[in-house]
Amino acid sequence: MRRNAFALFWVILFGSLLSACDNDDKERQASPDTLRKLATDRQLYIGAAVYPHLLDETRYTETLAREFNSITPENHFKWLATEPEPGEYHWEGGDRIAAFARANGQKIRGHTLVWPNSFSHQQFGVLPDYVLDASAPETLQNHIDAHIEAVVTRYADVTDRWDVINEPLRTLSAGVDPNHITVTLGEEWIVRAFQQTHALDPDADLYVNEALAESPGNKHEALLALVQRLLDAGAPIHGIGLQGHFLGGPPAREDLESVLRDWQELGLKIAITELDIPVRDGDFERQAAQYADVMGACLAVEACIEITLWGFTDRHTWLNDFMGDHSAPLIFDADYQPKPAYRALHEALSQD
Ligand code: G3I
Repeated sequence: MRRNAFALFWVILFGSLLSACDNDDKERQASPDTLRKLATDRQLYIGAAVYPHLLDETRYTETLAREFNSITPENHFKWLATEPEPGEYHWEGGDRIAAFARANGQKIRGHTLVWPNSFSHQQFGVLPDYVLDASAPETLQNHIDAHIEAVVTRYADVTDRWDVINEPLRTLSAGVDPNHITVTLGEEWIVRAFQQTHALDPDADLYVNEALAESPGNKHEALLALVQRLLDAGAPIHGIGLQGHFLGGPPAREDLESVLRDWQELGLKIAITELDIPVRDGDFERQAAQYADVMGACLAVEACIEITLWGFTDRHTWLNDFMGDHSAPLIFDADYQPKPAYRALHEALSQD
């Protein structure tokens, strides 16, 4: 009898130890460190572009708050969204995003104060008509000044980085973009936009954000030259944003790293601001390796302090909505389950 009780004791003890280990394993599986925690511990921004109407979806908001320490309004800080007519402001979408960030202890990347690019305007329509119709330099400059002042003062409390200008270069080649604003006012307007933003929000870091400039080559060189000219002319530029829409796959990691090092040498902070990597053949492991390469390049260069994704779930991405290209470019699937790319980022951020 006593021997049976003794045996039973050991069985129970062993059983409970095993089940404690099992529970520990489940605990580890159920609550691994989030990307947000891993990035925050390394003093990095990990961000996602967001839409205000999606903040009605619980799975969307839970994932967004859990995994990201920074958010970028995908469209709702833009000129066309905030001020489609002079002095007629639409703040609902931006306010909703700002309230979400404040409530969840996140910072906003303010995208974007002025997006003058002519090719993008043809594609999407990025400037209101009254801006394009303003032919007198003084009128045009007044519109820019008023717009910057309105947006920056409204959101400065929660925005610690601004994309003051988006896409100053030609999209598909390397020259300065001959858009209406730059043709009318010269590059001087860009310097003034940085100075004005700095005066309104002196603690924020101010960025030039550019597309298709992540590889060595003419466009990268032209961007370095432009930023150097703007700095020499007195523009308070603190960072360079490289969008990272790698629609045909990212550059080789060493190429990306060498581009990042050039920016570091110029003394600027670096952010990958709009990362997405489409998959058209179902090879999600390759996509994961590509995400790991981009994160690896950023982690290898001290000045690189941010990776923001252009969305986070394949359920909602501009590639589905606007381009009709259902190419699963993000790190959560359409059911909010983490994909191999999520695990790749997690692993990269977990390494010493
Ligand atoms: O909300 C309206 C909707 O009411 C209307 O029915 C529909 C009809 O076309 O348009 C909807 O608005 C569109 C909006 O996306 C929401 O889907 C706009 O027309 C369209 O111009 C807008 O496109 C955005 C584009 O920038 C232009 O602002 C994309 O969502 C957004 O992902 C894209 O983001 C840009 C970055 O700002 C800069 N870098 C490139 C990046 C991708 O193009």
